[in-house]
Amino acid sequence: DKGPYPYYMLKEVDEQPNVMRKLASTYTDESGKDTLDPELVDAIKSADRIHIVGAGTSYHAGLVGKKMFEKLTHIPTEVHVASEFAYDDPLLTKNPFFIFLSQSGETADSREVLVNVNARGFKSLTITNVANSTLSREANYTLLLHAGPEISVASTKAYTAQIAVEAILAKAVGMAKEQVTAEDFDVRQQLGLAATGMQAIIDEKETIEDLAKEYFVNATRAFYIGRGIDQTVSLESALKLKEISYVQAEGFASGELKHGTIALIEEGTPVVGIITQAKTAGLTRSNLQETLSRGAQTLTIARNGLKKDDDTIIIPDIDEMITPLLSVVPAQLLAYYTSLNKGLDVDRPRNLAKSVTVE
Ligand code: M6R
Repeated sequence: DKGPYPYYMLKEVDEQPNVMRKLASTYTDESGKDTLDPELVDAIKSADRIHIVGAGTSYHAGLVGKKMFEKLTHIPTEVHVASEFAYDDPLLTKNPFFIFLSQSGETADSREVLVNVNARGFKSLTITNVANSTLSREANYTLLLHAGPEISVASTKAYTAQIAVEAILAKAVGMAKEQVTAEDFDVRQQLGLAATGMQAIIDEKETIEDLAKEYFVNATRAFYIGRGIDQTVSLESALKLKEISYVQAEGFASGELKHGTIALIEEGTPVVGIITQAKTAGLTRSNLQETLSRGAQTLTIARNGLKKDDDTIIIPDIDEMITPLLSVVPAQLLAYYTSLNKGLDVDRPRNLAKSVTVE
């Protein structure tokens, strides 16, 4: 039931702070220690490589996961688009561990990979929103997203829940490996900060609706750009905009833009810079400037600690590694309000199904 909400998507965006709190209390105790199955933590700890597999938004959550696993566990991690990996002939190490990300647990492309993984006797975990789903039943381990049903075709709370669960898991494995980076990362506290930060952004939704009307409703093309973790969020942000508002959008590595794609910038093209990482903030800002001087209308989603006077949307400070939990929220809302103000069916965009059960 969507209650007072016009569309499920807005309800699901609004539910994200509670999902963060729920995951923190489900998977960590009051001292901040994880309550995960020690056997699972051990299986990942002894892996020589982690492979994360997903499609669409789940793949994008995997890209964030890679950064966290590598930083907190020091285990080399690869992320794969399921439909590609299924028919690749990857060179595998002796003891890989596979993590499947799937909101529905039913995505055929991901399942095809899992069937191969099982045939080869490798260990796997499915992180999913649906208990007893196919991917959950067929993997060795399952962690649930506890996000409640996600009805809107555009995935929102599953993305942030997947990132939160990956953060908890990466911290747990990192602790088991006695990594200082893991000891320094208080995941329970950070998820609390994420919850309040998300709420603060959601409370500003009217401002975001105004931006959607001003910049996106009449656009035919748009860009999200960023570097590192911000680049991964640019991919997810662009996907949200495309799938429900039909504005052709690209998420792009901001430094790569000038190597060709900047030719697409015309008078008025909206370009959103995501700026949450101290190391690359200045670089993304100058890349934005390059688009501005070619006629783009530029906007920013910037972390408070890095803000400049003319930034458009400010997100609260949080550990840089999990900024996607906050930076994606304005992008979800921009997509939502663009679709809404174009008079489209936000929850049921054309040509799409909620879960893709064919390869
Ligand atoms: O259920 P899954 O997480 O496996 O679904 C994967 C994709 O089909 C899904 O994330 C899709 O990209 C969404 N429509 C994105 O909003």
